[in-house]
Amino acid sequence: MNDKTPKQDLRTVYPDLAPKPGEAPPREHRAPRSPRPMNIVPEIGKHGLAVGKNGSGKTTTVASLIVPASQVYPVLVIDSKGDGSLEQLPGARVVTLPKDIEFDGLEIYKPEGLLNTSDYLDGVLQLAYETKRSMYVYIDEMYQVCSRPQPSLGLSNLLMRGRHRSVNGRPVRMSTLMSSQRPSWIPRHCGTEATYFYVHDLALPDDRKRMAELTGMPSLAMQPGPNHEFWFYKTGMGEPILCRINKRKELT
Ligand SMILES: Nc1ncnc2c1ncn2[C@@H]1O[C@H](COP(=O)(O)OP(=O)(O)OP(=O)(O)O)[C@@H](O)[C@H]1O
Ligand SMILES: [Mg+2]
Repeated sequence: MNDKTPKQDLRTVYPDLAPKPGEAPPREHRAPRSPRPMNIVPEIGKHGLAVGKNGSGKTTTVASLIVPASQVYPVLVIDSKGDGSLEQLPGARVVTLPKDIEFDGLEIYKPEGLLNTSDYLDGVLQLAYETKRSMYVYIDEMYQVCSRPQPSLGLSNLLMRGRHRSVNGRPVRMSTLMSSQRPSWIPRHCGTEATYFYVHDLALPDDRKRMAELTGMPSLAMQPGPNHEFWFYKTGMGEPILCRINKRKELT
Protein backbone atom coordinates (compact mmCIF):
# COMPACT_ATOMS: atom_id res chain seq x y z
CA MET A 1 0.00 0.00 0.00
CA ASN A 2 1.11 3.54 -0.70
CA ASP A 3 2.86 4.98 2.38
CA LYS A 4 0.83 8.16 2.13
CA THR A 5 -2.47 6.32 2.33
CA PRO A 6 -4.20 7.34 5.56
CA LYS A 7 -4.91 4.52 7.99
CA GLN A 8 -8.39 3.22 7.27
CA ASP A 9 -10.48 0.27 8.21
CA LEU A 10 -10.32 -2.31 5.47
CA ARG A 11 -13.83 -3.63 5.29
CA THR A 12 -14.98 -6.70 3.52
CA VAL A 13 -18.16 -5.60 1.89
CA TYR A 14 -21.47 -7.36 2.06
CA PRO A 15 -23.86 -5.46 -0.15
CA ASP A 16 -27.41 -5.54 0.99
CA LEU A 17 -30.58 -3.75 0.07
CA ALA A 18 -33.41 -2.80 2.32
CA PRO A 19 -36.30 -5.13 1.42
CA LYS A 20 -39.74 -3.75 0.68
CA PRO A 21 -42.23 -4.00 3.55
CA GLY A 22 -43.53 -7.56 3.86
CA GLU A 23 -40.82 -8.99 1.64
CA ALA A 24 -38.24 -11.54 2.83
CA PRO A 25 -34.89 -9.81 3.15
CA PRO A 26 -32.10 -10.95 0.83
CA ARG A 27 -29.84 -13.61 2.36
CA GLU A 28 -26.93 -11.19 2.72
CA HIS A 29 -29.15 -8.85 4.67
CA ARG A 30 -30.13 -11.49 7.23
CA ALA A 31 -26.82 -13.11 7.92
CA PRO A 32 -23.88 -10.84 7.33
CA ARG A 33 -20.76 -12.59 8.54
CA SER A 34 -18.46 -9.62 8.33
CA PRO A 35 -17.67 -8.09 11.70
CA ARG A 36 -18.53 -4.72 10.17
CA PRO A 37 -20.82 -5.14 7.18
CA MET A 38 -22.02 -2.12 5.31
CA ASN A 39 -24.33 -1.36 2.47
CA ILE A 40 -22.63 -0.05 -0.66
CA VAL A 41 -25.55 -0.70 -3.06
CA PRO A 42 -26.82 2.64 -4.38
CA GLU A 43 -30.27 3.50 -3.17
CA ILE A 44 -32.76 3.41 -6.05
CA GLY A 45 -32.73 6.83 -7.76
CA LYS A 46 -29.04 7.46 -6.99
CA HIS A 47 -26.24 6.98 -9.51
CA GLY A 48 -22.92 5.21 -9.01
CA LEU A 49 -19.53 5.40 -10.75
CA ALA A 50 -16.92 2.62 -10.59
CA VAL A 51 -13.50 3.46 -12.00
CA GLY A 52 -10.16 1.69 -12.26
CA LYS A 53 -7.56 0.48 -14.69
CA ASN A 54 -7.93 -2.68 -16.72
CA GLY A 55 -8.41 -5.70 -14.45
CA SER A 56 -8.66 -3.65 -11.24
CA GLY A 57 -12.03 -5.18 -10.29
CA LYS A 58 -14.72 -2.72 -11.48
CA THR A 59 -17.03 -5.30 -13.03
CA THR A 60 -16.65 -7.62 -10.04
CA THR A 61 -17.55 -4.79 -7.67
CA VAL A 62 -20.59 -3.66 -9.64
CA ALA A 63 -21.71 -7.28 -10.17
CA SER A 64 -21.83 -7.65 -6.38
CA LEU A 65 -24.17 -4.65 -6.24
CA ILE A 66 -26.56 -5.59 -9.01
CA VAL A 67 -27.26 -9.14 -7.86
CA PRO A 68 -28.98 -8.03 -4.63
CA ALA A 69 -30.48 -5.02 -6.45
CA SER A 70 -32.12 -7.35 -8.98
CA GLN A 71 -34.04 -9.04 -6.17
CA VAL A 72 -35.99 -5.83 -5.75
CA TYR A 73 -35.88 -3.92 -9.07
CA PRO A 74 -35.25 -4.79 -12.74
CA VAL A 75 -31.58 -4.45 -13.67
CA LEU A 76 -30.45 -3.89 -17.26
CA VAL A 77 -26.72 -4.34 -17.93
CA ILE A 78 -25.26 -2.79 -21.08
CA ASP A 79 -22.41 -5.18 -21.75
CA SER A 80 -20.80 -3.76 -24.89
CA LYS A 81 -17.43 -5.38 -24.11
CA GLY A 82 -18.93 -8.86 -23.82
CA ASP A 83 -17.56 -9.56 -20.34
CA GLY A 84 -18.31 -13.26 -19.87
CA SER A 85 -18.52 -12.96 -16.06
CA LEU A 86 -21.74 -10.91 -16.16
CA GLU A 87 -23.83 -13.58 -17.85
CA GLN A 88 -22.74 -16.07 -15.15
CA LEU A 89 -24.45 -14.04 -12.44
CA PRO A 90 -27.33 -15.74 -10.64
CA GLY A 91 -30.60 -15.17 -12.48
CA ALA A 92 -28.97 -13.40 -15.46
CA ARG A 93 -30.59 -13.60 -18.90
CA VAL A 94 -28.67 -12.60 -22.03
CA VAL A 95 -30.43 -10.45 -24.64
CA THR A 96 -28.90 -9.49 -27.99
CA LEU A 97 -31.65 -7.37 -29.57
CA PRO A 98 -33.28 -4.25 -28.07
CA LYS A 99 -36.75 -5.59 -28.94
CA ASP A 100 -36.16 -8.59 -26.65
CA ILE A 101 -35.37 -6.53 -23.55
CA GLU A 102 -38.20 -7.03 -21.07
CA PHE A 103 -36.97 -4.75 -18.29
CA ASP A 104 -37.58 -7.50 -15.80
CA GLY A 105 -35.12 -9.37 -13.57
CA LEU A 106 -31.41 -9.24 -14.38
CA GLU A 107 -30.91 -8.77 -18.14
CA ILE A 108 -27.50 -8.62 -19.80
CA TYR A 109 -27.77 -6.78 -23.10
CA LYS A 110 -24.93 -7.97 -25.34
CA PRO A 111 -25.27 -6.16 -28.66
CA GLU A 112 -23.65 -7.54 -31.78
CA GLY A 113 -22.28 -5.93 -34.95
CA LEU A 114 -23.73 -2.56 -35.85
CA LEU A 115 -25.87 -2.53 -32.73
CA ASN A 116 -22.67 -2.26 -30.72
CA THR A 117 -21.96 1.37 -31.55
CA SER A 118 -22.35 4.33 -29.25
CA ASP A 119 -25.47 5.73 -30.99
CA TYR A 120 -27.37 2.44 -30.81
CA LEU A 121 -26.23 1.85 -27.24
CA ASP A 122 -27.48 5.30 -26.32
CA GLY A 123 -30.77 4.42 -28.01
CA VAL A 124 -31.16 1.51 -25.58
CA LEU A 125 -30.58 3.89 -22.66
CA GLN A 126 -33.34 6.11 -24.07
CA LEU A 127 -35.59 3.04 -24.37
CA ALA A 128 -34.98 2.27 -20.69
CA TYR A 129 -35.80 5.87 -19.78
CA GLU A 130 -39.04 5.74 -21.77
CA THR A 131 -40.29 2.62 -19.95
CA LYS A 132 -41.05 4.91 -17.00
CA ARG A 133 -40.24 2.08 -14.58
CA SER A 134 -37.98 2.19 -11.57
CA MET A 135 -34.86 0.18 -12.34
CA TYR A 136 -31.09 0.01 -12.28
CA VAL A 137 -29.13 0.38 -15.51
CA TYR A 138 -25.48 -0.67 -15.43
CA ILE A 139 -23.22 0.54 -18.26
CA ASP A 140 -20.09 -1.62 -18.23
CA GLU A 141 -17.44 0.67 -19.76
CA MET A 142 -19.00 4.04 -20.18
CA TYR A 143 -16.44 5.06 -22.80
CA GLN A 144 -18.04 2.68 -25.32
CA VAL A 145 -21.38 4.45 -24.95
CA CYS A 146 -20.25 8.06 -24.69
CA SER A 147 -16.74 9.41 -25.12
CA ARG A 148 -17.78 12.99 -25.83
CA PRO A 149 -17.66 15.75 -23.20
CA GLN A 150 -21.46 16.17 -23.46
CA PRO A 151 -23.62 13.18 -22.55
CA SER A 152 -25.73 11.74 -25.36
CA LEU A 153 -29.56 11.92 -25.23
CA GLY A 154 -30.39 8.62 -23.50
CA LEU A 155 -27.52 8.95 -21.06
CA SER A 156 -28.38 12.52 -20.16
CA ASN A 157 -32.05 11.60 -19.64
CA LEU A 158 -31.08 8.77 -17.29
CA LEU A 159 -28.55 10.85 -15.39
CA MET A 160 -30.40 14.12 -15.11
CA ARG A 161 -34.11 13.40 -15.46
CA GLY A 162 -34.34 9.73 -14.57
CA ARG A 163 -33.49 9.90 -10.89
CA HIS A 164 -36.96 10.86 -9.80
CA ARG A 165 -40.05 11.41 -11.91
CA SER A 166 -43.71 11.29 -11.11
CA VAL A 167 -45.62 9.21 -13.67
CA ASN A 168 -49.42 9.17 -13.28
CA GLY A 169 -48.96 10.13 -9.66
CA ARG A 170 -46.49 7.37 -8.81
CA PRO A 171 -42.75 7.84 -8.30
CA VAL A 172 -40.36 6.41 -10.88
CA ARG A 173 -36.73 6.23 -9.77
CA MET A 174 -33.90 5.10 -11.99
CA SER A 175 -30.31 4.49 -10.94
CA THR A 176 -27.49 4.47 -13.45
CA LEU A 177 -24.33 2.59 -12.53
CA MET A 178 -21.34 3.29 -14.73
CA SER A 179 -17.84 1.92 -14.96
CA SER A 180 -14.81 3.35 -16.70
CA GLN A 181 -11.10 2.76 -17.04
CA ARG A 182 -10.55 6.44 -17.90
CA PRO A 183 -12.81 8.74 -15.87
CA SER A 184 -11.22 11.80 -17.48
CA TRP A 185 -12.42 10.66 -20.92
CA ILE A 186 -16.11 10.30 -20.14
CA PRO A 187 -18.60 13.18 -19.69
CA ARG A 188 -18.08 15.02 -16.40
CA HIS A 189 -21.79 14.56 -15.75
CA CYS A 190 -21.12 10.85 -15.05
CA GLY A 191 -19.19 11.98 -11.98
CA THR A 192 -21.10 15.09 -11.02
CA GLU A 193 -24.47 13.28 -11.10
CA ALA A 194 -23.16 10.26 -9.14
CA THR A 195 -23.52 9.89 -5.40
CA TYR A 196 -21.76 6.53 -4.94
CA PHE A 197 -18.12 6.07 -6.00
CA TYR A 198 -16.04 2.88 -6.20
CA VAL A 199 -12.47 3.93 -6.97
CA HIS A 200 -10.15 1.06 -7.85
CA ASP A 201 -6.51 1.36 -8.79
CA LEU A 202 -6.19 3.93 -11.61
CA ALA A 203 -3.20 3.90 -13.97
CA LEU A 204 -2.91 7.61 -14.75
CA PRO A 205 -2.47 10.65 -12.50
CA ASP A 206 -5.07 12.61 -14.54
CA ASP A 207 -7.73 10.07 -13.68
CA ARG A 208 -6.84 10.01 -9.99
CA LYS A 209 -6.94 13.80 -9.94
CA ARG A 210 -10.34 13.75 -11.65
CA MET A 211 -11.80 11.51 -8.95
CA ALA A 212 -10.37 13.66 -6.15
CA GLU A 213 -11.80 16.79 -7.82
CA LEU A 214 -15.22 15.32 -8.47
CA THR A 215 -15.67 14.28 -4.86
CA GLY A 216 -13.54 16.82 -3.02
CA MET A 217 -11.79 13.85 -1.38
CA PRO A 218 -7.97 14.00 -1.81
CA SER A 219 -7.52 10.38 -0.66
CA LEU A 220 -9.27 9.20 -3.84
CA ALA A 221 -6.14 10.30 -5.71
CA MET A 222 -4.11 7.69 -3.81
CA GLN A 223 -3.77 4.05 -4.75
CA PRO A 224 -6.23 1.96 -2.79
CA GLY A 225 -4.00 -1.08 -2.21
CA PRO A 226 -3.40 -4.56 -3.63
CA ASN A 227 -5.84 -7.43 -4.25
CA HIS A 228 -8.71 -5.47 -5.80
CA GLU A 229 -9.19 -3.11 -2.89
CA PHE A 230 -11.07 0.05 -3.74
CA TRP A 231 -12.13 3.28 -2.14
CA PHE A 232 -15.83 3.55 -1.44
CA TYR A 233 -17.20 7.05 -1.09
CA LYS A 234 -20.79 8.17 -0.82
CA THR A 235 -21.51 11.89 -1.03
CA GLY A 236 -21.85 13.22 2.49
CA MET A 237 -19.50 10.68 4.11
CA GLY A 238 -16.67 12.26 6.12
CA GLU A 239 -13.94 10.25 4.35
CA PRO A 240 -13.77 7.41 1.81
CA ILE A 241 -13.20 3.93 3.21
CA LEU A 242 -11.14 1.08 1.81
CA CYS A 243 -13.16 -1.96 0.81
CA ARG A 244 -12.72 -5.31 -0.85
CA ILE A 245 -15.45 -7.54 -2.27
CA ASN A 246 -15.41 -11.03 -0.84
CA LYS A 247 -15.78 -12.54 -4.29
CA ARG A 248 -16.12 -16.14 -3.20
CA LYS A 249 -19.07 -15.30 -0.98
CA GLU A 250 -20.78 -12.70 -3.12
CA LEU A 251 -20.71 -14.22 -6.54
CA THR A 252 -21.11 -17.90 -5.95
N1 LIG B 1 -12.45 -8.81 -4.94
C1 LIG B 1 -11.90 -9.72 -5.74
N2 LIG B 1 -11.44 -10.88 -5.24
C2 LIG B 1 -10.87 -11.79 -6.07
N3 LIG B 1 -10.73 -11.64 -7.40
C3 LIG B 1 -11.17 -10.51 -7.95
C4 LIG B 1 -11.78 -9.47 -7.14
N4 LIG B 1 -12.10 -8.45 -7.97
C5 LIG B 1 -11.74 -8.83 -9.22
N5 LIG B 1 -11.18 -10.05 -9.20
C6 LIG B 1 -10.64 -10.80 -10.38
O1 LIG B 1 -9.78 -9.94 -11.13
C7 LIG B 1 -10.01 -10.06 -12.51
C8 LIG B 1 -10.40 -8.70 -13.10
O2 LIG B 1 -11.59 -8.29 -12.48
P1 LIG B 1 -12.70 -7.45 -13.25
O3 LIG B 1 -13.04 -8.09 -14.55
O4 LIG B 1 -13.79 -7.19 -12.29
O5 LIG B 1 -11.88 -6.12 -13.54
P2 LIG B 1 -12.29 -4.86 -14.44
O6 LIG B 1 -11.75 -3.65 -13.75
O7 LIG B 1 -13.73 -4.88 -14.71
O8 LIG B 1 -11.45 -5.14 -15.76
P3 LIG B 1 -11.69 -4.55 -17.24
O9 LIG B 1 -11.17 -3.15 -17.23
O10 LIG B 1 -10.89 -5.46 -18.11
O11 LIG B 1 -13.15 -4.62 -17.53
C9 LIG B 1 -11.09 -11.12 -12.68
O12 LIG B 1 -10.48 -12.35 -12.94
C10 LIG B 1 -11.78 -11.15 -11.33
O13 LIG B 1 -12.29 -12.42 -11.05
MG1 LIG C 1 -14.81 -4.87 -16.47
